Amino acid sequence: MNPAQKPNRACELVLIGGTGWEQWAALERAAPVEVDTPFDEAPVVLECGRYRRRRIGFLSRHGCDHAVAPHRVNYRANVWAAAQLEPSMVLAINAVGSLNPAMPPAALVLPDQIIDYTWGREHSFVGDLEVPMHVDLTQPFDPGVRERLVAGDRNGALAAGRAVYGVTQGPRLETRAEITRLRKDGCDLVGMTAMPEAALARELGLAYASICVVANWAAGIGDEEPITMDEVTANVEAARAPLLGLLDNVLASLTD
Ligand code: HPA
Repeated sequence: MNPAQKPNRACELVLIGGTGWEQWAALERAAPVEVDTPFDEAPVVLECGRYRRRRIGFLSRHGCDHAVAPHRVNYRANVWAAAQLEPSMVLAINAVGSLNPAMPPAALVLPDQIIDYTWGREHSFVGDLEVPMHVDLTQPFDPGVRERLVAGDRNGALAAGRAVYGVTQGPRLETRAEITRLRKDGCDLVGMTAMPEAALARELGLAYASICVVANWAAGIGDEEPITMDEVTANVEAARAPLLGLLDNVLASLTD
């Protein structure tokens, strides 16, 4: 296709939805946009549309039917596709378990740090793309985007503006001893998807931050009851309205 004919795919913001956010019903005039990537034969499909007068791209990390497990997500293809829309920010939604009593189920938390416990994932573009070999990740989430989120939290939706997110390999949940270890390491939250997503976003120079939705107490926190998908679903659902309110405020703060 001649570049002049190329449809304008530019979006002001890309939202990467996680568990419970496989679709984004609020997106108006949404249409699928297929982005071919060097990292998969199949294109990455984003929904692009309007929300609060902004052009937004929406990408479901686990696929539209939640069929792709955290360790099987093609993070490189997703992040590369998001970058093709040239967004000024990328917001990730990540369902997590909580180790911190101040961050109960259904709370929204903005993590500011990561400890990566994952293994075997394609975690870098180095060697495949012209990106810096050693990107700085002192602050793994973009401080400017985090500031916007904190400033946009006019309804007090955020339980906390700082937290350490421990990223485990999954797809199984953790043992109690593993959670005890994560606690000793300083983790407040445990999830399976912030890495390598955050590092890949940094390699491509994207302004990326995560909003965590607390879906459950982490294994063995509080009691020994098994974690159920019903509680995960119910808590993600309970956090939907506050999260939409937060997104509204943040989108309103984007300059015209
Ligand atoms: N552990 C890891 N990932 C998660 C959890 C958890 O308890 N809850 C939601 N995602």
